[in-house]
Amino acid sequence: MNLAYEQEDSLQTDLLPKASAANIERILRNLNHFNSTPEFGTTRVLFTEPEVAARNYIKQEMQQLGLSIREDAAGNIFGTYEGTEPVLAPIWTGSHIDTVLNAGMFDGMSGVVAGLESIRLLEEAQLRPRRSIVVVVYTSEEPTRFGLGCLGSRALAGKLGAEEAKQLKDKDGKSLYEVLQSLDFPVDHFDEVPVRRGDVKAAVELHIDQTGELEREGKTLGIVRTICAPSVYDFKVTGRQSHAGGTSMARRRDALMASAEMALAAEELTKASLGPDDYATATVGRMNVIPGAVNVIPGEVDFSLDVRDASFAHKKELTQKILGKFEEIAAKRQVKLTGREYNDDHPMPCSEEIQAKLTAAAEELGIPYMKTISGAFHDSMLVGEFAPVGMLFVPSRDGISHSPQEWTDFEDIAAGTDVLARALYALADE
Ligand code: GLV
Ligand code: MN
Ligand code: MN
Repeated sequence: MNLAYEQEDSLQTDLLPKASAANIERILRNLNHFNSTPEFGTTRVLFTEPEVAARNYIKQEMQQLGLSIREDAAGNIFGTYEGTEPVLAPIWTGSHIDTVLNAGMFDGMSGVVAGLESIRLLEEAQLRPRRSIVVVVYTSEEPTRFGLGCLGSRALAGKLGAEEAKQLKDKDGKSLYEVLQSLDFPVDHFDEVPVRRGDVKAAVELHIDQTGELEREGKTLGIVRTICAPSVYDFKVTGRQSHAGGTSMARRRDALMASAEMALAAEELTKASLGPDDYATATVGRMNVIPGAVNVIPGEVDFSLDVRDASFAHKKELTQKILGKFEEIAAKRQVKLTGREYNDDHPMPCSEEIQAKLTAAAEELGIPYMKTISGAFHDSMLVGEFAPVGMLFVPSRDGISHSPQEWTDFEDIAAGTDVLARALYALADE
């Protein structure tokens, strides 16, 4: 390690002013106006009117910072703060601005705003590193509209091309490709979206902690070691629709009871096998009961299953066990089970070097931090397929997220931004 060089970096970043909680709050609250459920949390689904308006608003903020703006065929937005040697591979930072239904105003947005605020600090201190720093807004990290998450970062990783975008349909049967095309994204250039390894030097994402661990441990920052990855399935259970009074308990082929038993089995098997990092989750978050009437035994149920793990091998083992048990239950209850896999992602270890940069910045600033793993997935999970990634968490109240109750103090995002800005500069000046 070149100590003189490291020291020079930290002297440079001593010039950085502190992030402004008020500016962070301003942008987050402005973003929050773009919302289709203002009476119940925040809902901003990919390429709906509020989401498109929020994109335009972020582009305005980027413009005001003097960033040069580019969008790719998958709808990712890139705002570049040019370095003194812009031919060098840049450093990326950013997250997403779409939400789940009835969400909060911090999940994703905090990372985009922290990126913008980091650039404002660098500008104010007139610090231009060698490499460019790019604030990225990734398209639809949430699977809300198309059932698949991380659409933009998946395309950047070369795992979602034009063909897949044509296959991916929303509930109205519109494909992602069609929607992109109708909004004038250059879909003919879909094959230019993937990034080659080496083209991005490093990527750092700030995000809210969605477990409550930071709050419980009294830490302001979490430096992420590994990002857990999901496998997502859709199942259809077909039983026999019949009369609630006329069909004795022995004669039923109840699709809902079979599905309920499957959901409980997934929970039990996962609790009994948490894997190497002692962390695995299984969630049945959606169940659609047909026909859905008080006096009718359900004939058909569709439900989702989301299994996550810090280890890919353990996730495979666990999902095999769960799927085996589902088949056993289907046979026992005489229902038909069909399923479809949406994705089977790989957990992503965070770069040791980026973790060290984040740690050094937190220590320099005297901000209490801890190492952690991310149970939630993030765009960094896919960006890690082509660049070293790092993640920085800030606390959320009671760890509640994907809920209108989600809350993070703006001062905590500002503290995270102070660390992020220093780490970005250190990475960009190498
Ligand atoms: C992303 O929001 C996730 O579900 O982890
Ligand atoms: Mn989320
Ligand atoms: Mn998120």
